[in-house]
Amino acid sequence: MIDKLKELIAEAEAFSAQTKEEVETFRIKYLGKKGLLNDYFAEFKNVANEQKREFGQTINQLKKTAEEKVQALRDELESKEEVKGIYGDLSRPGEPIEIGARHPISIVKNQIIDIFSRIGFNVSEGPEIEDDWHNFTALNLPEYHPARDMQDTFFIQTDPDILLRTHTSSVQVRYMENNQPPIRTISPGRVYRNEAISARSHCFFHQVEGLYIDKDVSFADLKQTLQYFTTEMFGKSEIRLRPSYFPFTEPSAEVDVYWGLKTETDYRITKGTGWLEIMGCGMVDPNVLENCGIDSKEYSGFAFGMGIDRIAMLLHQIGDIRLLSENDVRFLEQFKSAL
Ligand code: PHE
Repeated sequence: MIDKLKELIAEAEAFSAQTKEEVETFRIKYLGKKGLLNDYFAEFKNVANEQKREFGQTINQLKKTAEEKVQALRDELESKEEVKGIYGDLSRPGEPIEIGARHPISIVKNQIIDIFSRIGFNVSEGPEIEDDWHNFTALNLPEYHPARDMQDTFFIQTDPDILLRTHTSSVQVRYMENNQPPIRTISPGRVYRNEAISARSHCFFHQVEGLYIDKDVSFADLKQTLQYFTTEMFGKSEIRLRPSYFPFTEPSAEVDVYWGLKTETDYRITKGTGWLEIMGCGMVDPNVLENCGIDSKEYSGFAFGMGIDRIAMLLHQIGDIRLLSENDVRFLEQFKSAL
C-alpha cells in the first residue's frame, strides 16, 4: 500500500494542466471528500502497527504534494490570464496598419518642387497672415492702386495693415529682403481670396511662385524655364504666352499649356478650349527689386506664379475644386497609389 502511495505521489508531482477545470478534477480526485486521500486515511486503522509511522508520513506527503500542486497550477493559470487580460492574445497575428494617402495638392506640389529643384531652385516659405508691405506695397502696389482690386483681400478686421496673403509673392519679397542675388527660389503655400465658392473657385487655394534673379536674366530665360517645366510636368511642351498685366512684373504674360479635350473634366476645366491657363509671369519690375534692397541696375530677374489646385484637378481628373478641401476619405483614399 505504501508503494501505491509513492506511485500516487510521483503521479501528482508530474501532473500538469492547461485549464482550471483540469486542476479542479485533479483536486477532487486527490483531495475531495470522496477522494483518494480520504480513502487512504480511512485505511489507516487497518495498517499494521509497525507500518503506521511510515504510512502516516507517506500519506501526509501525498496530501502536501497534491495541495501544493493545486496551488501552483492555479497560480500559473491565473498569471497567464492576467497577461491575456492586459495584452489580449499575444499569439494572434497583428492588426494590419492602414497606410494613408497623400493629398492630391501635396502630390502635385511635391512634383513641382522636384522639377524646379533639378534646375537649382530652393524652397522658401513664409507666413499666411501677412502685412500690407509684403503682400502689396513692396510689390509695386501702393495704397489706392487700382490693381489691388484684382485680388479680393481678406483683411484682419481690427488692423487694416494685416491680411491673409493673396499670393505667395509675399514670400519672394521676404526672400529678397534677406538674400542677395543670385536668387533661385520657389515658394509653395496656401493663399486666400474673398471669392464666392463654386465648383471652379474657392476662397483659398494653393500656389507655387518662382523667382530668379541674377545678372543679365532675360525673357528668353523665362520662356526656356517655362518650356522645361511644362514638358516635365505635363509631358507637353506646347505653350503660349499671352501679354498681360501685373504691377510687379514688366513685361508680363499669362501662360497657357495645351492639354487637350479628351474627357468631360478637360472640357470643364479648360472651358472647352483645351488650353489650361496655368500661370502668370514676367520680368521683375525694377521698382520691386529696389523696394527689396536689390540694385536694379546690376540685376534683373523673372518671376512666375501658378495655382496648384487647377493643375491637380486636371492631372487627377477632379471635377470640383471643393472636393480638395472637404476631406472626405472616400475621395482621399483614391490617391493611395499616387506618389
Ligand atoms: N502673384 C500673381 C498672382 O497671384 C502671379 C504672378 C507671380 C504673376 C509672379 C507674375 C509674376 O496671381
